[in-house]
Amino acid sequence: MITIKSEREIELMRESGSLTAMVLDLLEQEIRPGMTTMQLDRMAEEFIRDHQAVPSFLNYAPEGDPDVTPYPATLCVSINEEVVHGVPSAKRIVREGDIVSVDCGVYKGGYHGDAARTFVLGAIDEKVQLLVDVTRESLELGIAQAIEGNRLHDISAAVETHARSFGFSVIENMVGHGIGSELHEDPAVPNYGKRNTGVRLRTGMALAIEPMIAMGRSRRAVSKRGGWVAVTEDGKPSAHFEHTVIVRAGKAEVLTRSLLEKKLS
Ligand code: MF3
Ligand code: CO
Repeated sequence: MITIKSEREIELMRESGSLTAMVLDLLEQEIRPGMTTMQLDRMAEEFIRDHQAVPSFLNYAPEGDPDVTPYPATLCVSINEEVVHGVPSAKRIVREGDIVSVDCGVYKGGYHGDAARTFVLGAIDEKVQLLVDVTRESLELGIAQAIEGNRLHDISAAVETHARSFGFSVIENMVGHGIGSELHEDPAVPNYGKRNTGVRLRTGMALAIEPMIAMGRSRRAVSKRGGWVAVTEDGKPSAHFEHTVIVRAGKAEVLTRSLLEKKLS
C-alpha cells in the first residue's frame, strides 16, 4: 500500500531529511584518504544523536531472510566495486583514487530520511569520474519525473536512459523505495523501466530514489551468504546517489538537499 503523507507528516519528514543531508555535508567536508570507514560512521552517529535523532539503519533487519544479521552500523560505506551496504570497519581505509558511496538514514519525530552520495577521493580515473557524474545526473533526471500525474516508471526510465546513453549498466536487483514512518515502504522504485507505466504518482507520495550505476556490464549486485555488502559481478566500479523526495504538482520537493549545494546554485 502506498501512503499519501499529509502536510503535517511532510513537515516532520523535512526535519529528518535535512538532518540526513547535514550528516552527508559533514562527511563530505571531513573525508580524507587514510581514514577508516569506522571513523566516518562514528562521526555520523555522534552528529545524529546530538540532534535527538536515531540512525535508521542501525539494527535494521530485513524481513524474510534469516541468513542476514541485523545491520550493525549508522552508515553504509561502499567503496569502488561495492555497490551498496558496505559495513563500516576499523580495518577498512579509504584511499586516493577511490570512489566512496556513503548512505545514511535518520529517524526523528516518527519519520525517516534516507540519502546517499558518492565521494571522489583525490585524483581519479577520468572514466570513473564520468560514472560518478552520470549517476548524480541520472538521479536529478529521475527526480524531475517525480511529479503529480506522471507514472512511477517515468522516474525509472529517466534514470536508465541517461545511464545507458553513456554505456553504463544499471543495477537491477536493488531498488529505491517508498519512505515514511518505515524506512522501506511501497512502492519499489526500480532504476530501469518503461515510460508511461507503473502506478500514477500523486502529491504527498514520499520516495527514496537511488540509482546504482556500474561501469562494466554487471546488472546485478551480489552478496555472499550472510554478508551485507553487495558487489558488482565483474568487479568494476559502481556509483550510488539517493534523495528522499515528495511528489508534488510541477516539481518534486527534495527533502535531503545538501546545504553545500544550495550555496553554489
Ligand atoms: N539506503 C539503503 C536502502 O534504502 C540503505 C539501507 S541499509 C539497511 O536500502 F541496513 F538499512 F538495510
Ligand atoms: Co534507500
